[in-house]
Amino acid sequence: MITRKDLIKKYIEFFKSKNHKEIANSSLIPDNDPTVLFTTAGMHPLVPFLLGQKHPQGKRLVGVQKCIRTGDIEEVGDNSHHTFFEMLGNWSLGDYWKKEAIEYSFEFLTQILKIPKEELSVTCFEGDKDSPKDTETAKIWKRLGIEKVKFLGKKDNWWGPAGKTGPCGPDTEMFVKDLEIWNDVLMQYEKDKRGNYNEAKQKNIDTGMGVERTLTIINNLEDNYETEVWKPIIKQIEKLSDKKYSENKREMRIIADHLKAAVFILAEGIKPSNTEQGYVLRRLIRRAIRYGKQLGISTEKDLTTPLVIEIIKIYPEYNLLKKNENIIIDELNKEEEKFERTLEKGLNLFSKLTKDKKHLTGKESFLLFQSYGFPIEMTLELSKEKGIKTSKEDFEEELKNHQKLSQTATKGKFKSGLADHSEKTTKLHTSAHLLLAALKKVLKDSNISQKGSNINPERLRLDFSFDRKLTGEEISEVEKLVNDQIKKEIPVSREEMTLEEAKKQGAEGAFEEKYKGIISVYTVGDFSKEICTGPHVKNTKEIGKFKIKKQESCGAGVRRIKAIIQ
Ligand code: SER
Repeated sequence: MITRKDLIKKYIEFFKSKNHKEIANSSLIPDNDPTVLFTTAGMHPLVPFLLGQKHPQGKRLVGVQKCIRTGDIEEVGDNSHHTFFEMLGNWSLGDYWKKEAIEYSFEFLTQILKIPKEELSVTCFEGDKDSPKDTETAKIWKRLGIEKVKFLGKKDNWWGPAGKTGPCGPDTEMFVKDLEIWNDVLMQYEKDKRGNYNEAKQKNIDTGMGVERTLTIINNLEDNYETEVWKPIIKQIEKLSDKKYSENKREMRIIADHLKAAVFILAEGIKPSNTEQGYVLRRLIRRAIRYGKQLGISTEKDLTTPLVIEIIKIYPEYNLLKKNENIIIDELNKEEEKFERTLEKGLNLFSKLTKDKKHLTGKESFLLFQSYGFPIEMTLELSKEKGIKTSKEDFEEELKNHQKLSQTATKGKFKSGLADHSEKTTKLHTSAHLLLAALKKVLKDSNISQKGSNINPERLRLDFSFDRKLTGEEISEVEKLVNDQIKKEIPVSREEMTLEEAKKQGAEGAFEEKYKGIISVYTVGDFSKEICTGPHVKNTKEIGKFKIKKQESCGAGVRRIKAIIQ
């Protein structure tokens, strides 16, 4: 058996031996990417660098990244799709190209993982109006002795852009006995707003190897859930339900998958709610609970705690999990209790409403949501199982009349997208640094630190440690201090240094944990110094007029400010 730990170590050591630098495993919540809720691939935290910004650790990178994909929560239950997963990857930022990328992949698969090359097959891009047939890639594979080379179209052998525009290109996928093990994306193009594929100034390699699936393949297993990263959870569910996995695969996979993802999201400090990440979290927990019930796990039994303990044991190196174990258990219990109080009643109401008809109105699905906490996705799933027609649009219509649920839930923001680096967000990024520095000065508290930030083209949102409401005067002072810095036309500079050096210089760093090796520090005169990946304006004069729109409390000891540029 090759363990998860071995696999990750082998991968990283291999690429280090090829002069790659190991990058940190970033947060599951993208720092400053408003277009997505979660980190969806290893390349995600690297977007600014794929677009040409210089990476402080160089042009060859390797790492393992925790990811969440929520596009298809309702699809989970088969043997290889997971909401939470880990992805290994190596990247060339304008450095090596197809030949080396493929040779590295080949060497790792055959020499390190010792997969006989006869068992390998690959696919390449077959070509279309945007890009020619990728015979170059196919030739490289053939030269290495791979016989089974297939050409497929955009649907299969093209990756990105993740959003509407940005880096993308053909990819070449590797299979072991028909199971995909690795994907090398050959980022050759940048798609523009008009839909044209332009030759990229910087050509990148972006690869992704799913840890769970690779463990299944190299250990000759048939089901990801038999690997060490799932089995202990499944065993525990068997115990709790007194049922066998072999006879209840779908339900048990869903419970294991959803609770694992929930544990990781909770560890990031997200709480179940009706907006954004919190809403995804709520749906995951509630769907797991419903399937627990379907398996006959009694309401009196605590479903979540024993599973959390197993999940945390699987991932000993994620300090965030252990550190937040009590909070995670607490939050899950709270949500479990809250939902179980109403689940039964809700299910009864659902049966009653659909007893004599095959259709649920928007009002009715809204009633299930409002009174019994049924996420619409759950009602839709229940309806599908029972052959009942329910419309999401009708529900949303009803919802709009009552309360504004997150834009996220309704507009499908879960789908992946590239980070937004528009002019507006760039200005807001720099404003966020100025705001944090101004808060410290005005509130005369140098211990204030950033607890979170989210920026989109409309506004910035900054969460910071402080335990009372700011007075109107303080708000005006902070605003004025920020605007003074803008008027002073201060250049913004970026330097690279080690974390120790940055700390020595007194740089702010709310996300210190994730930085390894050399980092970027942005300095605005003697006003602000922060560890950050950017992007930022070159001079504060570019920003415009800064205005605070709102302040609110955001949990104990944390305040939230929303601000805009006028
Ligand atoms: N970005 C590609 C993927 O997600 C390769 O890492 O598959």
